[in-house]
Amino acid sequence: MIPQWVIEKKRDGQSLADDEIRAFISDYTSEIIPDYQMAALAMAIYFRGLDAREVTTLTDAMMHSGDQIDTSVLDMPTSDKHSTGGIGDKVSLLLAPMVACCGVGVPMLSGRGLGITGGTLDKLASIPGYRTDLDTNEFLDVIRECGCAITGQTASLAPADRKLYALRDVTGTVPSIPLIAASIMSKKLAEGTATLVLDVKCGNGAFMQRLEDARALAEVMIRIGSGMGRGVSALITNMEQPLGTTAGNALEVIETVEALQGKAVPDLLEVTLRLGIEMLRLTHVETDAASARKRLIETIASGQAFERFKQMVALQGGDAAALDDCNRLPQAPVVLDVLATEGGYIEGVSADGVGRAVLQLGAGRKQTTDKIDPSVGVSNLIQVGAVVSKGDLLARVHAANQAEAEVAREQVLAAIEMSGDKVAVPELVLGTVVDE
Ligand code: URA
Repeated sequence: MIPQWVIEKKRDGQSLADDEIRAFISDYTSEIIPDYQMAALAMAIYFRGLDAREVTTLTDAMMHSGDQIDTSVLDMPTSDKHSTGGIGDKVSLLLAPMVACCGVGVPMLSGRGLGITGGTLDKLASIPGYRTDLDTNEFLDVIRECGCAITGQTASLAPADRKLYALRDVTGTVPSIPLIAASIMSKKLAEGTATLVLDVKCGNGAFMQRLEDARALAEVMIRIGSGMGRGVSALITNMEQPLGTTAGNALEVIETVEALQGKAVPDLLEVTLRLGIEMLRLTHVETDAASARKRLIETIASGQAFERFKQMVALQGGDAAALDDCNRLPQAPVVLDVLATEGGYIEGVSADGVGRAVLQLGAGRKQTTDKIDPSVGVSNLIQVGAVVSKGDLLARVHAANQAEAEVAREQVLAAIEMSGDKVAVPELVLGTVVDE
């Protein structure tokens, strides 16, 4: 295989043969093909796309570029949830223990924040001691013990994706449906989960901003998963405004704790329940949505899900006592209120705007090598549909210093749109895509 011929073929809009795709990925993983040729192929794919066969072969090649975890040794049904990334999306933290309490093993390999979107691992890493680098045996042991584990992708799992993702991040080739689908599915298939529920975020704070693109991405991922014998379905959920009332790592852990104690805001609870219902349905633990919902709610009401979350945190080396006393979590030195400058109805809270403010406060990375500040972000964020008077609290900014807090206050204020007319609470679930 001559790499430049494969690049030229895709550049000119032709289909690649399976062995060309496999050889390219294999040689890229073993560093025979340099980054610049992989970047050129990624750009050609960005413009020309991949057909169903090509994207399945690419996923399979990336999945087989490293180890695969065998979750059948767990002897329980397994299900994972993967979000394509959003602002304030702490659903995984709640969902994993809730679903585990229903008898389903949740092997969750999560990622760090990408661009303005937050990462589950960064959130959990704000709990002192929490390890996000479990090896495969430790990962399986934690699931055996408490039903769920959330850790990072190991170096040996889908290494082709690890390399390619970092390259796409700096070559303008992230927002490509076949590349996103292959990236997500190669990791999730290698992780060994029998079933998978995809939360495809759609809106200004997501990679997919148009419903038809979100649907197309969901359909491609479901086709790949079912072609490889896994049960996969997807919800397309609204990411026009942040999910819940916090964005920022430790702040989102605090919101998770409150939610597990029965104090979740409706949007966060509803998205979590809808995804959980799908996980119970795909694993055949429940067949109808109403009983799955009831069972999931009961895990919170009984206190079991919170206990399970603390157990998982402790098994992964984290300070579970910090979840009973959240003052032990990192605290930002400066907290500034964002107050309404006029009265009215909240018409929009731009997820993109809040995400940018939170990233600039230090909660996310501008470069992959940046260290993040776990304490900073936004809490008490107002939601679309609320009515406020002049001087009411719209949000609270948590910052490392006064100057950064003031910049963020203006950014958050600019992200909030007001209306004189009553505004309806937006739809949360914009669509469901199931395997036919
Ligand atoms: N998440 C991933 O894992 N890969 C992508 O390409 C985009 C989001």
